[in-house]
Amino acid sequence: MAENILDFKAFSQVTDARWYPRYHLAPPFGWCNDPNGMCFYKNQYHFFYQHYPYAPEWGPMHWGHAVSDDLAYWKHLPIALKPEQPYEQGGGCFSGSAIEKDGKLYLMYTGHLSATPEEEAAIGYGHIEFQCLASSEDGIHFTKSEKNPVIEDIDIKSDDVFINDIRDPKVWIHDGKYYAVLGSRTPDMAHGQIILFESTDLTTSWRFKAISARSEGNLGGMWECPNFAEINGEDVLIFSPMDINTEDGTFYNDKVAGVLIGKLNYRSGLFTHGDFQYLDKGFDFYAPQIMQTPDGRTVMIAWMDMWNVDMHETKDGWAGMMTIPRVLGIKNGKIISTPVKELEKLRKWKPIILEDVLIDEATTFDGVSGEAYELLLNIDAAQSKKFSIALRASDIEQTVLSYNANGIFKLDRTNSGEPINFQSVREIQIEPCEKLKLHIFIDRSSIEIFINDGTEVLSARIYPKRTSQKVIFVPEDEQLKIDSLEYYKLDFGLPHPHIKDTPEDLHKKFPFLK
Ligand code: FRU
Repeated sequence: MAENILDFKAFSQVTDARWYPRYHLAPPFGWCNDPNGMCFYKNQYHFFYQHYPYAPEWGPMHWGHAVSDDLAYWKHLPIALKPEQPYEQGGGCFSGSAIEKDGKLYLMYTGHLSATPEEEAAIGYGHIEFQCLASSEDGIHFTKSEKNPVIEDIDIKSDDVFINDIRDPKVWIHDGKYYAVLGSRTPDMAHGQIILFESTDLTTSWRFKAISARSEGNLGGMWECPNFAEINGEDVLIFSPMDINTEDGTFYNDKVAGVLIGKLNYRSGLFTHGDFQYLDKGFDFYAPQIMQTPDGRTVMIAWMDMWNVDMHETKDGWAGMMTIPRVLGIKNGKIISTPVKELEKLRKWKPIILEDVLIDEATTFDGVSGEAYELLLNIDAAQSKKFSIALRASDIEQTVLSYNANGIFKLDRTNSGEPINFQSVREIQIEPCEKLKLHIFIDRSSIEIFINDGTEVLSARIYPKRTSQKVIFVPEDEQLKIDSLEYYKLDFGLPHPHIKDTPEDLHKKFPFLK
């Protein structure tokens, strides 16, 4: 069994909490990227993530681990997987998923092996990827399978798959058989695709089934992090296409995350589907993972960052955070996502509730301010033709949301704080509406905006000064009519590293450390 007690002195520690989230999942040390292995096991929600504990930068991948009874309050657990096997030398333990079988929790993940220069010259590529399993009786301590890798290149019975890039298995059970989708690309690297494997017993006998879906036109040269679920009788395939050609302006970025809604034919392995839809139109949303809750909801968490974009928190010894958990639904053929209701548990203080407010000049409301809160607004859009809301605002900084009667909704982080080396203005078209509902989550260095019950969502990282806390409502036409405003300051949802932590404090917060 892997040694899970780790010496925190070796880890990269949080030296300043100015941007460290109060209620969003983030690594207690070092770096995180993709969510992994989200599941409900032995009465707890388990959340794993791509993690490098030793520095606030990407490095050989470990699986960090946190658990929660309620999706609101989280506790960090020991690192679940670390790179130690020959098939993990290089990139380490890449992304994957979790499934319960016979009372045990199985993690299915990708072992990423870097080639030596000689090997690279021989195979013409810098790495090889293998699919592996680890299992646990208690959901905390994991043992890697002696049968690893359970899927390797010789198992891929198709000339149309680029065998060096095949990763991020999402495993599930259907009619007594196990299925796994994997992200990959065509050998000419022009098209991302999803590969389906099947097994009768999960632990061995994985068999190549089909190339289930492939990018048509310009939907990326590689598809990462597939996820699969059934929602309201429809099959949804979630994935993160990369290497998108952005020249024609169809996509916001060369890496995005989204969903295809359709039907998987379990006999042929083919997935027929409609058009690609975004899961979130903000700047920072990648590699989402989903799980089923005991009451049948499909809950999603994504990495709320983007590759190759400044993460200013690296200056503070940590890097990366997750979105809040969101429930996925389908409405009129469109994917929607809304905050899980459990987050209401974090509303620890008396709310501020205002009704029927009409303003004709820039206005702030007493107590409606801060760095970690939830704000629900119902706006009479028929009477408020053009307005903006400045959040995390001060005399010098602001993150601005704006709306006009043509249905143009804009998120502008140009002056949100530390400059970011990526796009800062996102403009989307929403259905013009009489009533506009906004549900906004602010947490130190992030903003998430759910528009009209999750028909559109925008997520972004921002790096304001700690003191930029105002919320300013600005009518830009004649007036702004707010039918209702609810403001909730939110509690700490996870142990919070602090610059003044003594070793004893750290032991208390992270009892699994030496
Ligand atoms: C997506 C990704 C995955 C991979 C992981 C490595 O962000 O590139 O495809 O498994 O990150 O950390």
